[in-house]
Amino acid sequence: MSAMARRVAGFGTTVFVEINALAREFSAINLGQGAPDFDGPPEVLAAAVKAVNSDLNQYAPGIGMPAVRDAVARHAERFYGQRVDPEINVLITSGATEAVFAAILGLTDAGDEVIVFEPVYDSYVPNMVMAGVTPRYVPLRGDNWIFDPDELADAFNTRTRAIIVNTPQNPTGKVFSRDELTVIADLCTKHNVIAITDEVYEHILYDNLTHTRLAMLPGMAQRTLTISSLGKTFSVTGWKVGWAIGDEELVNAVNRAHQFITFAVSSPLQAAATTALSLPSTFFNHLRATYQAKRDRMVDVLQKAGFKVLQPQGSYFIMVDWRGVAPARVEDDVVFARWLTKDVGVACIPPSAFYQESNKHLSKYLARFAVCKSDETLAAAAERLSRLGKG
Ligand SMILES: Cc1ncc(COP(=O)(O)O)c(C=O)c1O
Repeated sequence: MSAMARRVAGFGTTVFVEINALAREFSAINLGQGAPDFDGPPEVLAAAVKAVNSDLNQYAPGIGMPAVRDAVARHAERFYGQRVDPEINVLITSGATEAVFAAILGLTDAGDEVIVFEPVYDSYVPNMVMAGVTPRYVPLRGDNWIFDPDELADAFNTRTRAIIVNTPQNPTGKVFSRDELTVIADLCTKHNVIAITDEVYEHILYDNLTHTRLAMLPGMAQRTLTISSLGKTFSVTGWKVGWAIGDEELVNAVNRAHQFITFAVSSPLQAAATTALSLPSTFFNHLRATYQAKRDRMVDVLQKAGFKVLQPQGSYFIMVDWRGVAPARVEDDVVFARWLTKDVGVACIPPSAFYQESNKHLSKYLARFAVCKSDETLAAAAERLSRLGKG
């Protein structure tokens, strides 16, 4: 008898684990995993240490510490003009990952459908499977990852309960435009569907693009659960502090699930989150400028090495087509990622991890690189990648 429940048996282990292990084995520069190799702002780290030493080591309220809920509300108003009552519209979660899972458990029933854009961030569909919910995929196509509005409209039906929108998107780096979000909003309103947004890269956009919050479009405040977290913006991915913002009814439903998943989130790290979210705009401007420089540098390095770059608009990922680079024996994205890690010494992620089984061929010639690395790491990767075009 297998010990594993049928619920999880189909998940397998992710390719991320394999590539990370290979990167260690072959001492590759790891541009695979989306975690910075540098620390967050010193005042935020200091706030965590101070909290640990200040008697903040017992359970926080399940919904989150009042100060951090307040900081989430003030951040929403500061950047998006979103008016949020911290008492009733904010829930603190163990990262965006838990927020999305609690949202699916709290807002959908078994047999419902939830729409996602494909390629899709890898936790959403397993979350749905665990909840007995059916994913409906809408493809993003072409170099600019565009969806067809008719195809999206066709995905909505009487069983559709929610749509998940991740902007800026992992793995493509797509930033959904206001026009695209308006198409989504109109369909949500027409079909009385909830929108769950994953905005963890909300502060990492390029070329002066603006992040539009779906919840701020007409008719969407009541039906949108906005999710984000500290990890990417403050370079503390290991902290796993996130939040969900929404109408009281939505937040209550998500909290029903949250209370029996984690109950409460790390108290000292919530205290530090309050400091982080209250940092002045100079911090956020500097973050953007830093990532713009890292992206521009790596786009240049990858192009010079012979890759076709699919220019990202946000997030800290770059997708490339590697056909101009790899030897003939490399037949797909997984083989390419293994080859680059072992033979070139630079690790990347095969994007087929973000596609359903029947569509994995769509990313056959693609690779995803993460740029959330120190300048030294990027320089070392650049040096190795520069040998590529030289046969
Ligand atoms: C789109 C997206 N959502 C959520 C997460 C995870 O966020 P957290 O660490 O806050 O759970 C990631 C991390 O890679 C991500 O790329």
